[in-house]
Amino acid sequence: MSSLTRAFSSTLGRKLIMSMTGLFLCLFLIIHVVGNLQLFRADAGKAFNEYSYFMTHFLPIKIVSYLLYLSIILHAVYALIITVNNNKARPVGYAKVDGAANSSWNSRNMGVLGTILLIFIVVHMGNFWFQYKFGDMPYTQYETSLSDPTQVNITQLPLDGTKRVHSEFVDVERGVQVVVLKDLYRIVQLSFKQWWYVALYVISMIALAFHLYHGFQSGFQTLGWDHRKYKPLIDGIGLWLFSIIIPALFALMPLYIYFFN
Ligand code: HEM
Repeated sequence: MSSLTRAFSSTLGRKLIMSMTGLFLCLFLIIHVVGNLQLFRADAGKAFNEYSYFMTHFLPIKIVSYLLYLSIILHAVYALIITVNNNKARPVGYAKVDGAANSSWNSRNMGVLGTILLIFIVVHMGNFWFQYKFGDMPYTQYETSLSDPTQVNITQLPLDGTKRVHSEFVDVERGVQVVVLKDLYRIVQLSFKQWWYVALYVISMIALAFHLYHGFQSGFQTLGWDHRKYKPLIDGIGLWLFSIIIPALFALMPLYIYFFN
């Protein structure tokens, strides 16, 4: 066994992988929630579809996406290994690293919450991400007047087997800018018109809130970045940003579309 393999199969090594991947996923959530705020715009999904196109075609973001998929897998696999080992060797193993008296309750709790989130991510990516990349997607054409950009003519192109592609051009004769986009907004809208789908999202966001409440500060603690001076700041960000604001904004999206869109 090489020293690197040995390091990452030790208890501390596994916890380090968990914390690094977990904090990277937290960073992703900030970008994801900000981007998805486009769903609240009353523009028939133009900004949201443009944002989705940018996220899937801009090379640096594509590279970071692969790191993201790897992080999700590593985070879930190492969580499983740690949980199985804790169950075998409780109370010694985890308590040594975490140092908290209630660590076994916390780790069990994190496991259940993490499982709900993993199910959520599989359903979520299957419905949106997989559909966008490999599914039979609807397209929408947006014609924006060059003289008055608030004037937008929207045509939902039918799913009639015609091969369509993303395109963008200026029609000088008609004085409009034409953009044809894959309409992920329509897929999101259709999904969030089903009550059970909205319920799945809201329940998952409650799980996310509790998972991140413990996970965010625990990640910093494992990395040793929990100096007394910064701990109140880390705890504050963990509480307000990651366990209140971000889950609440994510939960509001399906609720907004279900009730008001
Ligand atoms: C209401 C809340 C949410 C909405 C409307 C939403 C919407 C979307 C959409 C439309 C995509 C596909 C984007 C694309 O391929 O361009 C996507 C991808 C993704 N979402 Fe969400 N999302 C939500 C919440 C979440 C949450 C809470 C998580 C994690 C816990 C999450 C994790 C992901 C991941 C990992 C991807 C793949 C990203 C990539 O390929 O780079 N999403 N989401």
